[in-house]
Amino acid sequence: MTIRITGTGSALPEKIVTNFDLQELVDTSDEWIQKRTGIAQRRVSTGETVSTLAAKACQKALEMSGKTVEEVELILVATCSPELLLPCCACQVQDSIGASNAVAFDLNAACAGFLFGLNTAYAYLQSGIYKNALIVGSEVLSKLVDWNDRGTCILFGDGAGAAFVEAAEADIVCENGRRAGLECIVQGSDGAKGMVLSCVERTLNSAFFSGNKIENLFIQMDGQEVYKFATKQVPACIQQALDKSGMTVNDVDWFLLHQANVRIIESVAKHLKADIAKFPMNIHDVGNMSSATIPVLLDACCRSGKIKKGDRIVLSGFGAGLTYGASVLVW
Ligand code: UT7
Repeated sequence: MTIRITGTGSALPEKIVTNFDLQELVDTSDEWIQKRTGIAQRRVSTGETVSTLAAKACQKALEMSGKTVEEVELILVATCSPELLLPCCACQVQDSIGASNAVAFDLNAACAGFLFGLNTAYAYLQSGIYKNALIVGSEVLSKLVDWNDRGTCILFGDGAGAAFVEAAEADIVCENGRRAGLECIVQGSDGAKGMVLSCVERTLNSAFFSGNKIENLFIQMDGQEVYKFATKQVPACIQQALDKSGMTVNDVDWFLLHQANVRIIESVAKHLKADIAKFPMNIHDVGNMSSATIPVLLDACCRSGKIKKGDRIVLSGFGAGLTYGASVLVW
């Protein structure tokens, strides 16, 4: 038994913020940002929320899959920027799309969240507990970013991506002889390095009890440490996933990586000795949307026809936690 993605969808806020707009806010330049990250613009919420974006992405994914909302059994929202602590975003989405028969909950693995969601759904579906799941990565990071900090505010963007996955009872053999579905997953966490990318929780009562002032409520990042982690861990876990499934880099048609920095993606391609043309990117237009990056990219590649039936895809990401993972699947 495996699982197959049968629908994808995405939703972005209307407002585009360019590097030139950021030049007005902090001491930076379009040239620096493009050269060091590959980002030219990002979307920023002017009212759209994690749950409204997630709900839109889910509706599109369901529409593609041909399933009705009543049939949805599980909704998993991966987010590190929900608009409410309670109720969870997945329950808001359930209500908003009318999926009254679904069980819904959130998970937080930051930028690796969508992959962790996919793997969690895999476990539920494989065990027979549920037959299908909506997996969503949705973020409004613009509210967690310090717009005075040029080291972080240039990187992030808002958006949501979703995938509808179904348990595949019978094999579907593609024209190229490959069996459609998820082939292998690898995931890991390194909590010891957690504070290199952090954001304090806003309801901490330590200030009340100890009188300590909370210095910074926004995302704090040691960019170089995260960079080092990503360029080492991402190729290693992709290789591990390929080894586990008995594949080589040459058996893969597309590598859809977390879009954090073009230089990280290029470095991963180089480490793996893989053709950079196999690494579709959208970071130029939308920046780093944390858990939403991979499903938004997947949706774009799927809808544009870049990804075709029978293509073997590696999804891989990393993020705060620190967390990382890779999944190998045949479309
Ligand atoms: O989803 C995971 C999220 N995080 C990441 O993936 C982050 C991974 N790290 C990175 O992508 C890179 O480390 C950054 C893009 C964040 C920074 O690039 P870098 O090449 O590592 O730059 P740096 O931090 O070494 O800074 C180099 C210089 C510094 O100036 P000095 O000390 O050499 O004078 C910085 O102050 O660039 C300066 N700088 C900037 N200059 C213009 C840092 N940010 C900016 C900026 N505009 N926005």
